[in-house]
Formats: sequence, structure tokens, C-alpha cells
Amino acid sequence: MADIDSFAFSPFTTGKGALVVFCDEGLKFGSATAKALAPAASLVTRAAKSERFTGKSGSALELVLPAGLPVARLVVIGVGKVSALTEKDFLKFGGMALGKLPGSAAEAVIFADFPGGVVKAAQAADMMLGAQLRSYRFDRYKTKKQDDEDKPKSRKITLGVADAAAAKKAFASRDAVAQGVRIARDLVNEPPNVLYPEEFARRTLALKKLGVAVEVLDVKAMAKLGMNALLGVGQGSRHDSRIVVMRWNGGKKNEAPLAFIGKGVCFDTGGISIKPSAGMEDMKGDMAGAACVTGLMHALAARKAKVNAVGLIGLVENMPDGNAQRPGDIVTSMSGQTIEIINTDAEGRLVLADVLWYAAKKFKPKFMIDLATLTGAIIVALGHENAGLFSNDDKLAERLTQSGLVTGELVWRMPLAPEYDKQIDSKFADVKNTGAGRWGGAITAAQFLLRFVADKTPWAHLDIAGTGMDSRQTEINKSWGSGWGVRLLDRLVADHYES
Ligand code: BES
Ligand code: MN
Ligand code: ZN
Repeated sequence: MADIDSFAFSPFTTGKGALVVFCDEGLKFGSATAKALAPAASLVTRAAKSERFTGKSGSALELVLPAGLPVARLVVIGVGKVSALTEKDFLKFGGMALGKLPGSAAEAVIFADFPGGVVKAAQAADMMLGAQLRSYRFDRYKTKKQDDEDKPKSRKITLGVADAAAAKKAFASRDAVAQGVRIARDLVNEPPNVLYPEEFARRTLALKKLGVAVEVLDVKAMAKLGMNALLGVGQGSRHDSRIVVMRWNGGKKNEAPLAFIGKGVCFDTGGISIKPSAGMEDMKGDMAGAACVTGLMHALAARKAKVNAVGLIGLVENMPDGNAQRPGDIVTSMSGQTIEIINTDAEGRLVLADVLWYAAKKFKPKFMIDLATLTGAIIVALGHENAGLFSNDDKLAERLTQSGLVTGELVWRMPLAPEYDKQIDSKFADVKNTGAGRWGGAITAAQFLLRFVADKTPWAHLDIAGTGMDSRQTEINKSWGSGWGVRLLDRLVADHYES
């Protein structure tokens, strides 16, 4: 994308633009910062006093320095207690530093320097990742140059570090993740007239350059496999459905892969059970699960992860039409189970039913994790802070929870139980696509998916309706499409599954 900021590491030098530095809650600076600020030390102390700035975590002090001092603009960010900082704090402060840059700054230096010891290369790299994620903008469709926030000029941003070569090396794997997040965000933000199933599939072909094998199943291929649950959802659309299978083989030969599966409803009108018009435009993001899987496959391949992984995304458009699926229709899924359609707006589970079945049967994966903007009910339950986690495997659930805490992409485990499962028994078919009422809607949706998990494959379902789009704005995400899940799952793989 044009107009994006450019980033580099360099040894500590202040440069001519803005300078961003950090201090703890005792207003103490790291040694490189103290040295650089020496000529302005009394000024900074005075300003801090008059602004009642105490270095509390997340607070900031902004100063214009008089002529004769090294930089004109100085931002001091408080980090609280340095000893308490964790990985996600370094990400946050990198993002915050970028966010605090004065709008006019074309050049800026951020000092990765804290009191009480040298910042490690990995921590500096985390700050760089945070700054890059914060700098993301989706402005492809803004044609007018604007002076305001919408269209800032590209900036040259330097992260000052003790050892630039070491930081750069540590950043390489994070760079792959940053790219993966950007890819996922772009896909979610794209408008639905541009990004329909075929076009989404076409974009995944870019992964081939990284050594990912990409296979696209068209309607004919899916019909042959008996995927009538997925095909029923797409049958009212002018755009044909697709499944994309992305394979990265960085692990041992013949070792079972990890499978990641994404709901890719490129637009969800609700179909014949049509949604109200208010806010319907947000349903362009109903492919956030598929976007995450695509971004994750990019990240794994770009950092040459030592793992076998397969990403499968079910791409459809859910439209009302003369040929659209009706409430009352009964379809036979690839599994052989028949499904009675009660509500055509409960379409994501129909798509996943066939993709999950196919993934387990075809790849016999070590586990499969699906991501889906599946239910409004999960937003009622958890808001925008946690994704809902449902799993038939305690170990996998525990690992996902841990990766969530480390990365800040939080998941909260929700229940599965036969009492909920009963609700989706159908009068006319094996199963129906909604529960008995609205209550526990995220759970009955997960119970539906569980019926399509073949061969007791360890499985986790992440309901990302509240986190994948229009989610909480954070110091490292100001984008509508958040790219949620790429960092979480990359971390899960890195911590537990690489040989
Ligand atoms: N894509 C929606 C879920 C959704 C809602 C995602 C809000 C993001 C924000 C899904 O296909 C849907 O329509 N679910 C229905 C299910 C119901 C008909 C059983 C819902 O949640 O209302
Ligand atoms: Mn729907
Ligand atoms: Zn949907």
C-alpha cells in the first residue's frame, strides 16, 4: 500500500524530527535516553512537574523544545514499573510511541530504552512489531489527499536500540507475523463487491511464492465430494463458491499436519431469512476467520516454521435470490448427515460442516482449529475482549488459553454438553441449523459443528464475531478488520508444535 510508514533499527541517535522516549514511574530514564536528554534535563523535569506527569503506565508528556536542543518535539511515555513488563507490554509501547507522534512529523526516532538495564533484542523487536501494527491503514479507496488523520504522509521511523543487528535479526520472524496480520486486515476491510469468493481465492495464490501449495476447489469439485451444506449457502449468489486448501510443509515428512479452518462468508445478507438493513454493511467482514487462516499461512511460510500445516477456507456469499436456499430445505452434507435449514442466516455452520468433515477425513490432522464470525450471541456473552473457545480437547484448549494470555488475543472457554446438543435434533432430518431459541446461541452453534468433527479429531472452535472485526481499538490496532488470531495461532504453533 502506498503512503505507509518506513521502519528501521539504528543505534541510539536523536535525529532531526520528533523523539519518543520512555521513563518509569520514578521519572527515571534509561542510560541512552538520559544521555540524549541531558541538555534538556531541567526542562523535562519542569514540564513533568507542571503537567503532573509521573511516568504512570500509559501516560504521556509532550514537549516542544527550544532552539539549541537536539530535537524540536519530544514525547515522554510512562511505562510504570519496568520489572513488571511482559511481551505484550513491549508491543503496546511500540504502538503507543507511534500513536503519540505529532501529526506533522515526517521523521521520528523512538528510543527502545528503559531504566534498569538494556532492552533485549527480542523486546526491541516486539516494540517494532507493535509500532508496525499500529501504523497500518486501509486507505486504498480514499482518492483525495487529506491533511487529517485519514491520509497522513509516509513517515520515516527509526527505532533506536543498543544493537541494531541483533534487533533486526530478532525482528525477522515478527516481520512475517506483521505481514500476516496486514494480509488478514486487508482481506476483512475490502468491500464485498471487490472481495467475493473467486477473488478471495485468487488472492491466496500469492502464497505460492513462499512455497505454500495452494489448491482451489470449484463448485464442480465440491459437488463431486457431496458438499451440499456449503453449496446450499452459496446457491443464491451470482458468485460461485470456492474452497481453498493451503499447505505448508516445513515439518517432518509424513508427520500429520495441524489444520486451520476459516469461515469465509464474503457477504452475509442472511439469505431468505434476511437481516435488518441497519449495520448490514459490517457483514463484509463475515470472512474474518478465512482471512485469519490466510494471514497465518503467510506468517508460517514467511518465517519458515518447522511445522506441517494446512489451511482450509470455505468461501461463499449468502444472498436472497430466486435460487436461494429456503427455510425448510433439507440438504445432505458431505458427512452423510442430513441438515434441516431453519434459518438461512445460520449459514456459517453449514459452510464449516463440510470443510471440517473434509479436513479431518482428508488430512487426518493432529488437531483442527476453526475460526468463524459465527454468532451474535458470542458478542452478547463476551463482548469484544475475548473470543469464545469451544473444544473437545482440554490440552488444546489450555494451550490456546495460554497463547491468548501471552499475545493479548484472549480466548474464553465456553461449555459443550449433551443438554445443548439435544436442542439441534430435527423433526425431519438428522440435525437442524439453529437451537430451540435464542438462548445459548453460541453454544448450540458449536454443538452443531461438533457433529461434523470426524473421527474424534482434537478440535477447537473460536467464535470471533466480537474480535475479528469492529473490535476493541487498542494501541496496536486502529483498523476495523483487526487481523485477530494470526498472532495467537502463530504463537500456539511456535510454542508447542515446531520440531
Ligand atoms: N455472521 C453472523 C454472525 C455475526 C453477527 C457476526 C454479528 C458478526 C457480528 C452469522 O451468520 C449469523 O447471522 N448468526 C445468527 C445465527 C442465528 C440465525 C441462529 C445470529 O447470530 O443471529
Ligand atoms: Mn448469518
Ligand atoms: Zn454469517
